[in-house]
Amino acid sequence: MKKNVNHIKIAMDGPAGSGKSTVAQKVAEKLDLLYLDSGAMYRAVTVLAIENGVETAIPELIKLVKNCHIQFSENGKLIFLDSKDISTQIRTPEVNTLVADIAKVPQIRTEIVRHQRRIGTQGGIIAEGRDLTTIVFPDADYKFYLDASVTERAKRRYAELLSQNVDTTLETVEEEIRTRDEKDITREHSPLKAAKDAICVDTTGKTIDEVVEYIISMVSSQNNN
Ligand code: DC
Repeated sequence: MKKNVNHIKIAMDGPAGSGKSTVAQKVAEKLDLLYLDSGAMYRAVTVLAIENGVETAIPELIKLVKNCHIQFSENGKLIFLDSKDISTQIRTPEVNTLVADIAKVPQIRTEIVRHQRRIGTQGGIIAEGRDLTTIVFPDADYKFYLDASVTERAKRRYAELLSQNVDTTLETVEEEIRTRDEKDITREHSPLKAAKDAICVDTTGKTIDEVVEYIISMVSSQNNN
């Protein structure tokens, strides 16, 4: 059945640097949808772990996760942990290094997925991450899997870090991406993979706007059938 475009649910997955956050934010703006950055939630849990010194004390961390409040504002641009704005803190190198190991803990995923599904009941949404098409919203109206070569993804991330005056090299960034890919793809619970019914988009050599237009055209054409 045709749905009002503002009530649709779009799920998008892909590896680090595939462009999904920027693309999803732009699609959200154009279609007036809620934007959900699921990776930011795992990053928030990582900040929670660091602040409480429980990075490796997983049972303690699980208790804290069950009692914490993670909230977004400004349509996903800002994230708050127990009312504190941690939007900058979630992007530090320390969080980058730790987050994949924290995101692989099944009990933590259960809590976060529950929270994501609650957010999904609020109306039209575009949600992106690693398991949105497979686990969180298998019922999504549209599913996309964004990918790009490791070299291209590393170049994008490197350019982003340079613009933030972060001192690093392209080789270091590429190595970090390879390590994170390996952890995200091979983990036991909710590994990164394309859902069988997801539309795969290779963003190598494409601009963000080209990918945004493509996604909107797919949604519009299928929504008009
Ligand atoms: O998209 P990102 O780089 O902000 O994600 C940070 C980490 O969180 C990434 O290494 C994998 C994990 N993640 C996840 O396990 N499931 C999601 N739905 C989103 C992110």
